Amino acid sequence: MVRVGLLGCGHVGAPLARLVDEHRALIEARAGVRIEIVRVAVRNLARERDVPLPASCFTHDADAVVADPEVDIVVEVIGGIEPARSLITEAIKQGKPVVTANKELLANVGKELFDAAEAAGVDLLFEASVAGGIPLMRPLRESLAGDRIRRVMGIVNGTTNYILTRMAEDGSSFQDALAEAQTLGYAERDPTADVEGFDAAAKAAIIATIAFGARVVAGDVYSEGISELTDQDIASARELGYVVKLLAIAEEVDGDIAVRVHPTMVPSTHPLAAVRDSFNAVFIEGDAVGELMLYGRGAGGEPTASAVLGDVIDAAKNLVSGGRGATIGALTRRRIRPIDEVESQFYLQMEVADRPGVLAAIAAAFGERDVSIKSMQQVGIGADARLIFITHRAREADLRATIHDLRDVPTVHRVGSVLRVIGDDR
Ligand SMILES: NC(=O)c1ccc[n+]([C@@H]2O[C@H](COP(=O)([O-])OP(=O)(O)OC[C@H]3O[C@@H](n4cnc5c(N)ncnc54)[C@H](OP(=O)(O)O)[C@@H]3O)[C@@H](O)[C@H]2O)c1
Repeated sequence: MVRVGLLGCGHVGAPLARLVDEHRALIEARAGVRIEIVRVAVRNLARERDVPLPASCFTHDADAVVADPEVDIVVEVIGGIEPARSLITEAIKQGKPVVTANKELLANVGKELFDAAEAAGVDLLFEASVAGGIPLMRPLRESLAGDRIRRVMGIVNGTTNYILTRMAEDGSSFQDALAEAQTLGYAERDPTADVEGFDAAAKAAIIATIAFGARVVAGDVYSEGISELTDQDIASARELGYVVKLLAIAEEVDGDIAVRVHPTMVPSTHPLAAVRDSFNAVFIEGDAVGELMLYGRGAGGEPTASAVLGDVIDAAKNLVSGGRGATIGALTRRRIRPIDEVESQFYLQMEVADRPGVLAAIAAAFGERDVSIKSMQQVGIGADARLIFITHRAREADLRATIHDLRDVPTVHRVGSVLRVIGDDR
């Protein structure tokens, strides 16, 4: 029997305890190990919990759970940096495998923990830290270990995907869609971490770390959220054959790592465009494997607990066999490409005077900065005239300089939204 010490029994910890109980026989039959949760640390001992565990298992002393000789594997589902960091470090020091779902911790001090696990020769597994129930870390670490991954693009935040779906399908404003997401419990009262892209940025850092074996932290990730998007942006995108998604993108470019989160226009024929509501999906491009996509529930107690339990079973099997799971190896230091140097296609719309010669001045401003126009469309006439451009691939810095120059063109009244576009330009 492999005995688990559970740190935290909230949205993820409680369904994990129920799953271990419900699937005990199945797990034993499939994996050849019996798993029992023997100790549980929580903050508030008085809280009622719907879990099939005796009250005697519970304590508020998480250190004691880690130190308990009866505990073989430590599962951390408390969240945040401290005390999770110290507890995991101590468990590793004691040679106990650790399973965690903590993206914040891994995106900030992951390297320190991976190094400690490597040095101690113990498993540190974290499948649930990115995209909840979707198997992603194991495919990246194991199934694709022999391939060269070029780019990973993910819809890794269900709250923003829900908001963007309502804006696209119902014509809702950002504020109305956010309010609806809050009513349904998809968005927090304070939605900043989701809507400003910080949650997705933490996940992007972990994805880049695992996909490229590089040291990437949350602070390396350029991030823009969705709070500035207008219903007009979403409608224009649709008219042009695109859907707007908040994408976490990690890619290897000439040896550099480029990693960012921003609203992106995705062609409506791309598999990521079909990911609706609060679902998540991760699209991977590898040299040999080509394109593949993993899709599912990126959050929620049960899907996340399912991913945590998969890791627990893996760690338990390794304990029994005396081996270790696939490691991520030594993380290399790679240059993080600044956003100014990153290339994308762009969508721009601007309000212009509706008179002859306007286009020539605008085209000259683009040309000056080496930004080449792929398509242009005029919408509205007279005082409502707007021009919508899609560019070929251009550097962010050149695009920004073009926008700056366009503000000085007298016939351009206003440069409105600018969005990156996933297109057919490579
Ligand atoms: N919820 C999701 O959908 C989801 C998805 C993916 C990843 N995750 C990750 O999973 C982790 C857990 O999330 P959650 O939603 O389950 O959080 P949660 O509902 O807030 O649960 C946290 C648990 O930790 C306990 N706790 C807090 N501080 C503690 C301390 N100092 N000592 C001992 N126990 C302590 C709490 O005790 P009390 O119950 O007594 O307050 C609670 O049981 C986080 O890292 C999160 O990012 C969550």
